Amino acid sequence: MSNTPVSFHDLHLTVDDLAADVLTGFSRSQKSIPPKYFYDAEGSRLFDAITELPEYYPTRTETAMLREFADDIAHKAGTGHLLVEPGSGSCAKARILFEGLQPCAYVPMDISRDHLQVAAQQVAAEYPWLEVHAACTDFTRLMTLPPDSPEGRRLAFFPGSSIGNFDPEAAVGFLRMIAEMVGPGGQLLIGVDLKKDKAILEAAYDDAQGITAAFNLNLLKRINRELGADFDLTQWRHEALYNEDKGRIEMHLVSRATQQVHLLEQTFYFSEGETIHTENSYKYSVEEFRELAARAGFTADTVWVDADRLFSIHLLQTGAHE
Ligand code: AVI
Repeated sequence: MSNTPVSFHDLHLTVDDLAADVLTGFSRSQKSIPPKYFYDAEGSRLFDAITELPEYYPTRTETAMLREFADDIAHKAGTGHLLVEPGSGSCAKARILFEGLQPCAYVPMDISRDHLQVAAQQVAAEYPWLEVHAACTDFTRLMTLPPDSPEGRRLAFFPGSSIGNFDPEAAVGFLRMIAEMVGPGGQLLIGVDLKKDKAILEAAYDDAQGITAAFNLNLLKRINRELGADFDLTQWRHEALYNEDKGRIEMHLVSRATQQVHLLEQTFYFSEGETIHTENSYKYSVEEFRELAARAGFTADTVWVDADRLFSIHLLQTGAHE
């Protein structure tokens, strides 16, 4: 590990947050767990494995597009920004852009503290000319930049179609938060998965090797470990279905039997076939996404789409400097 200094700003999720969110989610008629809890150390490892799967086209496609269009992106977006990446994970995609964009500093933000620390250190070691200010935060609630980040025109980078994991209203709210964070004259470069054939979508979220199933079931393991629950994992299975009306993949954990689960001194009853809704992944046409972004105050600049029309990358901007 290098000794390159990285400033670290820590606002990570606590066990109390998990407890409160699980109790709220389990009090509803359709039980649910927020997808942000997928990403403990094991969940982050499984997610990285998902991105390598033959069925999971988004990462591969977006990465190839970033490589292909890196120069054009820098040409359209300009250079020397403060580059802020909420949900930065391994920072692999931002690395593709550093040479072209020549940011004045990079602010990776993630809720998985260990993952972020390692990734930020690696970036700082590989790009000694780049200032790195890592922020461990649940960016869905708070988008505070580390207090020591430099001034500069801001470019937010939100790849991976993570915007699809918000319901449309929440997506508008999140985009507004980004618009506020980048300020007047700021920009957003965002990857958005496109609508397509149901079979391609469902295979991407229910792979033959069962990695996505393990990723989904890992939520129950985490709740057992961190909240002292007694989920029997053999009594649950993964399900991923495309809801065409809503334009979204829905992931659920399906109870294989009528059963009880004990958690935080409460008992929860599940009937056979009852589900816990764990994630939505919305898919948008280029026009649908532009309309959503416009509601958050963004104007469309450029959109890049791959030859197979699987994925889109939008460059958006907020109103000009006063
Ligand atoms: C992080 N997010 C964009 C992924 C997606 O495609 O919605 C999460 C995921 N869930 C299952 N596979 C991947």
